[in-house]
Amino acid sequence: MNAPEKLPASPDPHVMQTYGRLPFALSHGQGCWVWDTEGRKYLDGLGGIAVNTLGHAHPRLVPALQEQIGKLIHSSNYYHVPLQEQLAAKLCELSGLSKVFFCSTGLEANEAAIKIARKFGHDKGIERPEIVVYERAFHGRSIATLSATGNPKVQAGFGPLVEGFPRVPLNDVPAIEKLAATNPNIVAVFLEVIQGEGGINPATVDYLRAVRKLCDERGWLLMLDEVQCGLGRTGKWFAHQWAGIRPDVMPLAKGLGSGVPVGAVVCGPRAADVFGPGNHGTTFGGNPLAMRAGVETLRIMEEDGLLENAARVGGQLKEALQRELGGVAGVVEVRGQGLMLGIELARPCGELLGRAAQAGLLLSVTADKVIRLVPSLILSADEAAQMVAILVPLVKAFLAEKPQS
Ligand SMILES: Cc1ncc(COP(=O)(O)O)c(C=O)c1O
Repeated sequence: MNAPEKLPASPDPHVMQTYGRLPFALSHGQGCWVWDTEGRKYLDGLGGIAVNTLGHAHPRLVPALQEQIGKLIHSSNYYHVPLQEQLAAKLCELSGLSKVFFCSTGLEANEAAIKIARKFGHDKGIERPEIVVYERAFHGRSIATLSATGNPKVQAGFGPLVEGFPRVPLNDVPAIEKLAATNPNIVAVFLEVIQGEGGINPATVDYLRAVRKLCDERGWLLMLDEVQCGLGRTGKWFAHQWAGIRPDVMPLAKGLGSGVPVGAVVCGPRAADVFGPGNHGTTFGGNPLAMRAGVETLRIMEEDGLLENAARVGGQLKEALQRELGGVAGVVEVRGQGLMLGIELARPCGELLGRAAQAGLLLSVTADKVIRLVPSLILSADEAAQMVAILVPLVKAFLAEKPQS
């Protein structure tokens, strides 16, 4: 038995109860392994929810960040930040896009994208610009990004929501064409290439190409939220690259700083100059520590072939899960790409979070019924096999039980 089974009787009185937490705290990590404060060891299938690109305590990232902390953590956007210029140039090289705005989180990157789309519309003379969004999407928890999110649970209690987000189902070309034909105020389409929080739901290559074409025909912005699926996770730098298309606006965050908060909005020529001086800003965004984390993360990913690793080990992991769980009653589907995988079960399975931790594996459950694995991109084939060896018996045992009513 690994983690304790019961939640502590009295949650901390001073921390807001916004999360359902498991009853242990992590103290340190090494590669894809973490230890809690009681000395129990876990294989990390969660990677800080797709954040710890390079795993824990990476031997080349840690000294680089220590050096940066000793020099300059934060300056201000009153001044040039050479590391910002360096990271922006790298992101443009990798994406084929042209300009970047830096912030600190995914929702901030998405807020910036929404503002760009609205101003893009106003600049064209559209007074009430609207942005097409998706069922089951997740874009963050600020008022605007939760309004764009397609999950009533996230929105409940926070109305009135921000208007101007007509919603369509994913991978349904006629639905968006119908909307295009009837709504003259649309200025952008905003979607995750693989929906993460919504249950690991990939947009198909054909759908992405069709939406790119529609955006070109209509003069809309294609805005691809790659906060979770981007930065090597699927085996390409950005998940949309599998479809051979380019977005006009691409929000990033999570994996970019390998644990240091870094967000970015990367824009192509149609959107790159929409913001002018005074239109947008943030205190922390693009600070030297964050930028150094981004520069070093991308450098190490390249040097160590982590895209290839994500594709190869992710492929092996998916194959093994499909082989072991494919025919099991109650398993709906194993899906996803690279190291962004979901196992959909026929019934809610939130309790597997605690059971997996007890068995020494960290993972998440999203959209109630989908077990999600988003480990670090350094995961080895042997570690992937260990993950399967822990997870498969847990899922089988869970499905063999009578559902609690
Ligand atoms: C696709 C996507 N966009 C945006 C966000 C919000 O990012 P953050 O939690 O950093 O605000 C998330 C977080 O899970 C996400 O998965």
